[in-house]
Amino acid sequence: MRYDVKDLSLSGMGRLRIEWAAKNMPVIASVAERFSASRPLEGIRIATCLHVTAETANLMLALKRGGANPVLCASNPLSTQDDVAANLVREHKIPVFAIKGEDNDTYYKHIAAALDHEPHITMDDGADLVTTLLSDRKDLIENIIGSTEETTTGVVRLKSMEREGVLKFPVIAVNDSQTKHFFDNRYGTGQSALDGIIRATNILLAGKRFVVCGYGWCGRGLAHTAKGLNAHVIVVEVDPIKALEAVMDGFDVMPIDEAAKVGEIFVTVAGNKSVIRGEHFEVMKNHAILANAGHFNVELDLIALEEMTVAKRKLRSFVVEHELKNGRHINILGEGRLINLAAAEGHPASVMDMSFANQALAAEYLVVNKGKLEPKVHVLPVEMDRQIALLKLKTMGYEIDTLSDEQASYLRGWREGT
Ligand code: NAI
Repeated sequence: MRYDVKDLSLSGMGRLRIEWAAKNMPVIASVAERFSASRPLEGIRIATCLHVTAETANLMLALKRGGANPVLCASNPLSTQDDVAANLVREHKIPVFAIKGEDNDTYYKHIAAALDHEPHITMDDGADLVTTLLSDRKDLIENIIGSTEETTTGVVRLKSMEREGVLKFPVIAVNDSQTKHFFDNRYGTGQSALDGIIRATNILLAGKRFVVCGYGWCGRGLAHTAKGLNAHVIVVEVDPIKALEAVMDGFDVMPIDEAAKVGEIFVTVAGNKSVIRGEHFEVMKNHAILANAGHFNVELDLIALEEMTVAKRKLRSFVVEHELKNGRHINILGEGRLINLAAAEGHPASVMDMSFANQALAAEYLVVNKGKLEPKVHVLPVEMDRQIALLKLKTMGYEIDTLSDEQASYLRGWREGT
C-alpha cells in the first residue's frame, strides 16, 4: 500500500484522538451502522481531499464500513493531524497522503497520488481535487460517478466550472445542505477560528476591537462568538443586505479603509482575494494581529505585505511579526491559512458529525443515482437534511412536535382566511 505520512509511530495517539471525536459524532455512527449492514458503497473507490483530522477519520471509517475503498489526501498544507494520518494507515489500512506543513509541491503530489487511486467518486474541500482531475487527469473522467464538495469556496469554483461547461460529472454541494452551512460554517467556524487565534496568541479578547471581514455564514458565527467574549466587533461587508443584518445584530459596520485604522485583531472570512491589502497594512495600529478563516490563503494580500516588510521574525509557533517600513509591526497568524485548522484542531466533532453525515449520504446518493444526474452542481434532497437534523436532535436529547393532519392541510390550502 502506498502512503505518505509523517511518522507511523504516532498511530496510538491518533487512535485516542479519533475515539474522542467519535463520542460526539452519533449521526455519522448511525449512518455507519446502516452502511455496514447494507454495504451501499461496495467496491466504490473514493478519493477524498479533506482536512486530515479526527473527524474526517470517522468519515473514512464510515465509508469503509459501507464497502468503499477510500484514499485520503489533505485539502490544506497546514491542517493535517499527523497522528490521525498515521493511525488511518497503520490500523485501518487506508492510504493517506498528508503531512502537516507540507510545501505546495508536496501538496499537489499528494493530490496526484490520491487520483492514482482511479476513483469512482471524489470528495473535495475547496475543489482542488476536481480541478486537478479536470486539468491533468482527464483519463479518469469516464470512470467518475460524481463528486461531493464540502465548502463554500469549492462550490463557488464548481459552479464556475458548470457555467463554463467544463464540469463533466455531477457534484453534490454538501456545503449547501442546511445541516451543513447553518451549523458547521456558523458555529463551527465561530468557535474554532477564535480557538485558533487564542491558542496562537493567548490574547484576551474582551475589550479588543475585533474586525470581521465578510458577514456570511462563517462571519456571523465569528462575530457573535467574539461578541460573546466581550470583544468590540466591527463588521466589513460588500453586500448591503448582510451589512444591514450586521447593523441590526448590534455590530459596528464600516469600510475596510476605516476599520484598518481602528482594529486590533482582523479576521477575513469572505472567500475572496485581497480583502485586506497594502494600503490597509500601511495604516494599521502597531502590533495589529491578522488571521484568515476563509478557505484559501489569498484573503490577506501577503505579497504586498512582503514588499512593505523590512524585517520578519517568528515570535510563536503560528505568529510571524512583520516590521514595516513605517516602523510599525503587524502579526500574521498561521501564514494566512485557515487559522482554526492551522493553530487549533478545526471544527468540533459535534458539527462535523452533520457535515460528514451529509458527505456519506451524498456518496450513497451518487451511487444510487448513477447515470441519472446531469453534470451540474446539485444539492441533497431536503428530506435527507431533515432526517439528519432529526437524528441530531434525538441524540442531543430533544424532541419536537409534528403537524396534525388538520394543520398540514391548512398550510397547504388557501380557503381559510379571516
Ligand atoms: P458566504 O458566502 O456565506 O459569506 C461570505 C461573505 O463575504 C458574503 O457575505 C460576501 O458578501 C462577503 N464578501 C465578499 N467579498 C468581500 C470583501 N471584499 N469584503 C468584505 N466582505 C466580502 O460564505 P461562508 O460560508 O461564510 O464562507 C466564507 C469562507 O470561509 C469561504 O472561503 C469558505 O470556503 C470558508 N469556510 C471556512 C471554514 C473554516 O473551517 N475556517 C468552514 C466553512 C467555510
